Amino acid sequence: MLPSADQNEILRRRTFAIISHPDAGKTTLTEKLLLYGGAIHVAGAVKSNKIRKTATSDWMEIEKQRGISVATSVMGFDYDGYHINILDTPGHQDFAEDTFRTLTAVDSAIVVIDSAKGVEAQTRRLMEVCRMRKTPVMVFMNKMDREGKDPFDLMDEAEKELGIHCTPVTWANGQGLKFESVFALDNRPKDLSPKLQEDLEMIDGVYPEFDREAYLRGDLAPVFYGSAYKTVGVQELLDFFVKNAPSPRPVVAEEREVAPMEDKFTAFCFKIHANMDPNHRSCIAFFKICSGKFLRNTYYYHVRKDQQMRFAAPTCFMAQKKETVDEAFAGDIVGLPDTGNFKIGDTLTAGEKLHFKGLPSFSPEMFKYIDNADPMKQKQLDKGVSQLMDEGVAQLFVSQLNGRKIIGTVGQLQFEVIQYRLEHEYQAKCKWQPLQMYKACWIESDDDAELDTFKKRKAQYMATDKEGRDVFMADSAYVLSMAQQDYKHITFHFTSEF
Ligand code: G4P
Repeated sequence: MLPSADQNEILRRRTFAIISHPDAGKTTLTEKLLLYGGAIHVAGAVKSNKIRKTATSDWMEIEKQRGISVATSVMGFDYDGYHINILDTPGHQDFAEDTFRTLTAVDSAIVVIDSAKGVEAQTRRLMEVCRMRKTPVMVFMNKMDREGKDPFDLMDEAEKELGIHCTPVTWANGQGLKFESVFALDNRPKDLSPKLQEDLEMIDGVYPEFDREAYLRGDLAPVFYGSAYKTVGVQELLDFFVKNAPSPRPVVAEEREVAPMEDKFTAFCFKIHANMDPNHRSCIAFFKICSGKFLRNTYYYHVRKDQQMRFAAPTCFMAQKKETVDEAFAGDIVGLPDTGNFKIGDTLTAGEKLHFKGLPSFSPEMFKYIDNADPMKQKQLDKGVSQLMDEGVAQLFVSQLNGRKIIGTVGQLQFEVIQYRLEHEYQAKCKWQPLQMYKACWIESDDDAELDTFKKRKAQYMATDKEGRDVFMADSAYVLSMAQQDYKHITFHFTSEF
């Protein structure tokens, strides 16, 4: 076990992400939290991952903006004795995969909902990831200063659409033009309007009291109302958050569960941020520390490479500044400058052969064959594709029938990013061939004979993923549902971890 001073450092850490549909108010809320933490001093200072709307079709511009956002990938600050790490997630849906992976590195999440729009598509998808991982979530109903949906309806919608029980912790005094303030339900104002009295009777009759255990299990979400823009209801959220949100939680490795207080250092890589400048093919590999304490210039064990490595210039992220750090603790994120040694999912330890689980790949939404357009550069193309996949830019599948390579992404932009980077960083040229595909399904069965029959019958639709697993490439929802009906002993998974 770590010495108690180090244990206290870990206990005071709160590492979380804010998730929302674009425009719900994530950037505004982040900024207000940073203001409370004294990490910034004026509103408008956060150049976050938010991608300017005008730039959505110009991916070079988007990449430039993403470059700026390295500094805001993690925003650390101290508040009321706690050390808070906010992990930023890209707003652009073509980078949803990045966000999914970032969620594997957080101990909890805050979901921001626009009270006029209710639960939107991206929030629903991100919440699915939280549910899978049993990540505790709090909900902030934002923009109460605008005319919006009824606060009770919003909670009903959140329960139904996000699949989680809700209970309010604060309540809004008015809404839209009449919005004045929020108050904590355990500290109610004396003079209440008849409407508010009615609301409170309803709340007392219908909603359970906040139960921290249920929250920590991921079963119950405390709900807050407010306006990030007007800075109303934000402090209530922050104070409740630091007291109730979990400190770093144990992380499951293939071999065993790793507890944050263990004295030996362990960490996994959840994100690699490439430098878009072709003259400097350098990256930052982001590691979440799962246990112990990380020290600069100390040898650690790179499990996949079976090699000791040390880091002279690790960075941590305070407010919006990247700083070299001498030490960091479980719960923290360290950025390690990298020239191709790391891939997503890699584990660093103090010597133990550990493999962290839970970095799932999700079925891509778009698929294309990738072909070589310059016969002299086959090697460069193979190397480029392999490294870009390690970085998590997209997913590679190889057809079991003809060996052709298929790239799967969540958005059109990634195809352009891949082509550009192959040309500029690897001097390789590629061509895309359209491919009508619905989903990639990882298949599993207890019945070996049935699995075998399936694989033979569907040979032309079978592919292998980067880890060598069998994947069924369903070309339509209909084909998939027929397969599910005909092969009752086979389970079709839309993520690579099950
Ligand atoms: P995002 O990061 O989730 O994409 O959202 P962001 O915070 O950028 O907010 C999106 C828009 O919603 C912004 O307006 C922002 O000012 C506004 N907004 C955020 N919170 C509130 C709130 O509580 N009440 C109201 N009324 N508006 C809110 P914009 O016009 O797109 O940008 P800006 O010109 O205001 O910066």
